[in-house]
Amino acid sequence: MQSSLKDSGCRSPLRHSFTMAPSLTTVIAVVLGFMIGTTFPISNFTKFEISAPKFLSGGDTGDHSTNNNSTDLFKIYEPSNPKGAERLPPGIVVSDSDLYQHRLWGNPNEDLPLKPKYLVVFTVGYQQKEIVNAAVQKFSENFTILLFHYDGRVNEWDEFEWSQRAIHISTRKQAKWWYAKRFLHPDIVAAYEYIFIWDEDLGVEHFNAEEYIKLVKKYNLEISQPALESSRFITYEVTKRRNGTEVHNEAGEAPWVCPEHQPPCSEFIEIMAPVFSRDAWRCVWHMIQNDLVHGWGLDYVLRNCAEPARYKVGVVDAQWIFHHGTPTLRDQGKEENATADNSQGIHIRCYVELAMFKDRWRDAERDYYIMKGLIPENSTEHFTQFP
Ligand SMILES: *[C@@H]1O[C@H](CO)[C@@H](O)[C@H](O)[C@H]1NC(C)=O
Ligand SMILES: *[C@@H]1O[C@H](CO)[C@@H](O)[C@H](O)[C@H]1NC(C)=O
Ligand SMILES: *[C@@H]1O[C@H](CO)[C@@H](O)[C@H](O)[C@H]1NC(C)=O
Ligand SMILES: *[C@@H]1O[C@H](CO)[C@@H](O)[C@H](O)[C@H]1NC(C)=O
Ligand SMILES: *[C@@H]1O[C@H](CO)[C@@H](O)[C@H](O)[C@H]1NC(C)=O
Ligand SMILES: *[C@@H]1O[C@H](CO)[C@@H](O)[C@H](O)[C@H]1NC(C)=O
Repeated sequence: MQSSLKDSGCRSPLRHSFTMAPSLTTVIAVVLGFMIGTTFPISNFTKFEISAPKFLSGGDTGDHSTNNNSTDLFKIYEPSNPKGAERLPPGIVVSDSDLYQHRLWGNPNEDLPLKPKYLVVFTVGYQQKEIVNAAVQKFSENFTILLFHYDGRVNEWDEFEWSQRAIHISTRKQAKWWYAKRFLHPDIVAAYEYIFIWDEDLGVEHFNAEEYIKLVKKYNLEISQPALESSRFITYEVTKRRNGTEVHNEAGEAPWVCPEHQPPCSEFIEIMAPVFSRDAWRCVWHMIQNDLVHGWGLDYVLRNCAEPARYKVGVVDAQWIFHHGTPTLRDQGKEENATADNSQGIHIRCYVELAMFKDRWRDAERDYYIMKGLIPENSTEHFTQFP
């Protein structure tokens, strides 16, 4: 496969056309020259020369503005381009991409009969293949499927037909948010209207992704999750499934149990099965720190990425999932020479990360408020409440 790709690669065609057909190139040049000469009247060129300096003096061109030598006049510098790309003509700049897979042959414009509008991402180990397979079945052809493999077992998934269409990213012993930060940059997943970033231990008997999207659109939810059922303990009241509603966004507990209109009772979803709109993800991605592997604490500040969070963060009851609660990363998190329970190391790490994230968040929040002159140095009023 490798070598045949190399042999038929696109390395030499350009050279070919120059060496094999110099006369053709010359003919084209002559014809072009003729056409330009005949089709553009001289006045067009004059007009162009006059407008050029105006174009240059428009933006912040720094030193360039006093330099009107003709060669420098045509040196491109466009400050509104993305950082680092100022020397490119703006029309050539493409900042966004997608995860669509292309063919290696044929007309590029005809590569994609269908462009999936949504992206679903599972972080998986092969041991959970049955649950993941069942989950993937609930996502239509309108979804790009992306698997992050934390156990290095990738090829085994090919027993499932869909696996051959899926995108597989394999790095051992990492957790969901580690992958998400590195491989789901907002510019790269910009083609997708909604992004599902899910764990692997979710039962989907009562879930259909297309129906879910319809509800999310109907209620304008920027950040959402399907409601939960579980045979075990459900951590947050607000994520529990309600009977008879399509979506909800308040826990409905007494105010003395749970702060009103505040996480974790409102404006809150868990990080187990989140669904982000394109815009919300562009914001959330920035909060994921390099050392925030397990993502603890993130759920308390997600609401900063949807405005007004009161209405744009919610739980979808009509399409719900079952949380199996399999501690799947346990074996992967084994500390060297661990004595008792392997999960212990992970658990401690989660709390360490949470503490770091809280500190960082508070510092950032305080610095901002002080800079704006809103609070004195030592005030903690208006700060985000963490668990
Ligand atoms: C303009 O070009 C001339 C000759 O190439 C050069 O000597 C001169 O320094 C240039 N002026 C500026 C402002 O760059
Ligand atoms: C640059 O242009 C200005 C007016 O546009 C002119 O006065 C000046 O002489 C020019 N400088 C050079 C080096 O051509
Ligand atoms: C995929 O999206 C198209 C366009 O929105 C829609 O017509 C079609 O029903 C969707 N496919 C499924 C399986 O829902
Ligand atoms: C939901 O509510 C309806 C009527 O309100 C009831 O018939 C049904 O049994 C309930 N289902 C569950 C799972 O509680
Ligand atoms: C783990 O055990 C091995 C063998 O007993 C030992 O060589 C190694 O240093 C231990 N590693 C740690 C981190 O304690
Ligand atoms: C808070 O800062 C002010 C001055 O900015 C100081 O007077 C006050 O004692 C400080 N309070 C505490 C509790 O540190």
